[in-house]
Amino acid sequence: MKLTEQQRKQMRLTVDYTNMTEKYLGAKGISEKTIAAHKKIAKAAHGYVSANRGKDELYMGWTELPYNQNEIVADILTTAKLIRKRFEYFVVLGIGGSALGPSMAFSALCHLHYNDLPRSKRKGPKFYVEDNVDPVRMKELLDVIDVTKTCFNVISKSGATSETMAQYLIISDLLTKAGVDIRENVVFTTDAKKGNLVKISKQLGGVKSYVLPDGVGGRFSELSPVGLLPAAVAGIDIKMLLKGAAFMDKLCKSSDLTKNPALLSATLQYIAMQDGKNIGVMMPYSDNLKYVADWYAQLWAESLGKNVTLDGKPCHVGQTPVKALGVTDQHSQVQLYTEGPYDKVVTFLSVGSYKEKTPIPHGYRNIPDVGFLGGHTMEELIQAENRATAYALTKAGRLNYTICLPEINEYTLGQLLYFFELQTAYAGAMFNINTYDQPGVEAGKKATFALLGKPGYELQRNDLDSAAPDEDYIV
Ligand code: PA5
Repeated sequence: MKLTEQQRKQMRLTVDYTNMTEKYLGAKGISEKTIAAHKKIAKAAHGYVSANRGKDELYMGWTELPYNQNEIVADILTTAKLIRKRFEYFVVLGIGGSALGPSMAFSALCHLHYNDLPRSKRKGPKFYVEDNVDPVRMKELLDVIDVTKTCFNVISKSGATSETMAQYLIISDLLTKAGVDIRENVVFTTDAKKGNLVKISKQLGGVKSYVLPDGVGGRFSELSPVGLLPAAVAGIDIKMLLKGAAFMDKLCKSSDLTKNPALLSATLQYIAMQDGKNIGVMMPYSDNLKYVADWYAQLWAESLGKNVTLDGKPCHVGQTPVKALGVTDQHSQVQLYTEGPYDKVVTFLSVGSYKEKTPIPHGYRNIPDVGFLGGHTMEELIQAENRATAYALTKAGRLNYTICLPEINEYTLGQLLYFFELQTAYAGAMFNINTYDQPGVEAGKKATFALLGKPGYELQRNDLDSAAPDEDYIV
């Protein structure tokens, strides 16, 4: 479907940073002078990201995903159609960047009780993303699916992630024992040439596989086959998702931060972080967008949490992402945000028009504290609470800003994802760090290999044994 200029304008995501400014927040806000003083660093960050677009060696291949996947998208749509027809269940096996994207897009764009809908309404298999090795969760998943009627999308760039490979071993064993040809029930999404899934695929011969491109890291992979196949299986319009991302790319061409929403957002966050705002709260006012906060938490934390700059200087930068849900967490966390330490930036994700309005009927007019709600809609209520929370935070001098999606659909979600990816890339460039590596994650992966006896990790095993819990310190 081709969108008109008018439709694009109507569906454009906006960033309202009124409540970040000194003008509206008072002394705790960011002054025009401070923003002006950061124009140079913002321009340089924009220059770095623009100059390195698409460079695989810098892991910046993600910038081109909205443009270079025509053939892959066509292939994914064909495969998804077959999976939707043939299978009762679709299970993603993956973790981190190989799972958060698929979960997030599914919950953002599908019915909130999708798996409880009858097949006639779903028109596709029940959908699960298994991103943990909790033994209970695996066992209980197997209680509700029939492996012979399940398509397993095994997603791992390295094919060396213990969690995903353990899941795969369990599933392939069950399929074999059930007399199923594994190749019929699995799809791999992995590196083009390297890694264990490539080896397994060669050994099995003829497994349907998609490539996670070389220059795309896990947390930047949602718009690659990592996210696109699961999304298409769930009935999501993946072409529109990519169009939304391309639209945001277009909106962020300028090096002038007042004309580039992602650059503006990155600069405000950078200024706040320099001023000790070490916590970034993401608070969507929508259950559909709840897992955007999870996906963003990985993107922001893994990309910015670094201890050395690109020129080798120690730094220890980053901002701890906190996930909150409006309005639910107004009743648990907002007290802290309003009166606790001045160490946070709250980012609201607001929705202009919800797909359901859900009227609240009149009743109990004789009890005014209840009766006043009648005649409104739940949409009005959630929007009023969103506005009221932003107002209360502002009155209390707390930095907050609002990203508004006119509606939640493929086009606006595509914009939002690309917006956050660009924002992260700009912020990483401002800190002059490697935004795309994750040595801290790798360290944990290697220690797990050592503990479980993977050959080659014997020395680390000895070291781990010497760091075992000390009885003197166990109470
Ligand atoms: O962002 C990342 O790189 C990580 O979160 C990885 O996606 C995660 O560790 C899973 O790795 P892999 O896809 O190699 O199994």
